[in-house]
Amino acid sequence: MTYAEVIGDPIAHSTSPLIHGFWLERLGIDADYRATHVAPDGLAAHIAARRADPDWRGCNVTVPHKVAVLDHVPDPGGVRGSIGASNTVFRGEDGGLVATNTDAAGFLAPLADLDLAGQPVAVVGAGGAARAVLFALEKAGVGRVTLLNRTPLKAAGLLATFGLKGDAVPLDAPLPPAALVVNASSLGMAGQPPLDLDLGALPEDAVVYDIVYAPLETPLLAAARARGLETVDGLEMLIGQAALAFELFFGAAPPRDADEELRERLLSC
Ligand code: ATR
Repeated sequence: MTYAEVIGDPIAHSTSPLIHGFWLERLGIDADYRATHVAPDGLAAHIAARRADPDWRGCNVTVPHKVAVLDHVPDPGGVRGSIGASNTVFRGEDGGLVATNTDAAGFLAPLADLDLAGQPVAVVGAGGAARAVLFALEKAGVGRVTLLNRTPLKAAGLLATFGLKGDAVPLDAPLPPAALVVNASSLGMAGQPPLDLDLGALPEDAVVYDIVYAPLETPLLAAARARGLETVDGLEMLIGQAALAFELFFGAAPPRDADEELRERLLSC
């Protein structure tokens, strides 16, 4: 049977099998999507074995393999030099393996109706997730970026990497009147300190986007809703990046009209 998978170490916590399994069932596609534990020293052998398996349609890649997988799979789109990591490996038209990253497009998808060109934005975080967000925002042509991070020096390096104009500032710096605020850090995640931003300077049509999805309503999103601002939660990006990968694996668009039911399943797992 045709199959795809998510590989990582650890892997038991991954929500990808639930998401892809839900779509496969909905579409009646006779294929499987599984979670496979792959230790760092087993990555090369795993990719080599899967490359030779005609039933294998590809894989999602998670911690700690997102950078290392690029040593084993070509990335014609150049994700190594941009986002710096891959979350998806699929078979190209000639059957050869291709590494790509669907996080940036998955992040932007819920913002499709927002014209970000030339708009000031604020982003929190300078880790792997922030790289995908900044790459996406640069593609969307945003204006000045205020990049807040515990370590501003790291943030300054990222602005330069992505050719973005703006300022790298500490977490307690005031927010500018940004059209979009994104939390791309792990602050606000269960077990982490909350992200405490003063949203007072934001215009009333600003959008606040938190990529954290556990909990779904982070303190940041609660504060934004209390101010009447539009919000985007972390399940949107989680489902968005999976949708793009699903199409690369199985050649069919997932049934996004079933997102509400999918979200309920993700929240109860
Ligand atoms: P990911 O791949 O999920 O982005 P990461 O690369 O470890 O994870 O990045 C985590 C981000 O959350 C970083 O911006 C980190 O700040 P530093 O760059 O200063 O490390 C931020 N972060 C994590 N825990 C934090 C904490 N307790 N206080 C402030 N920032 C924190």
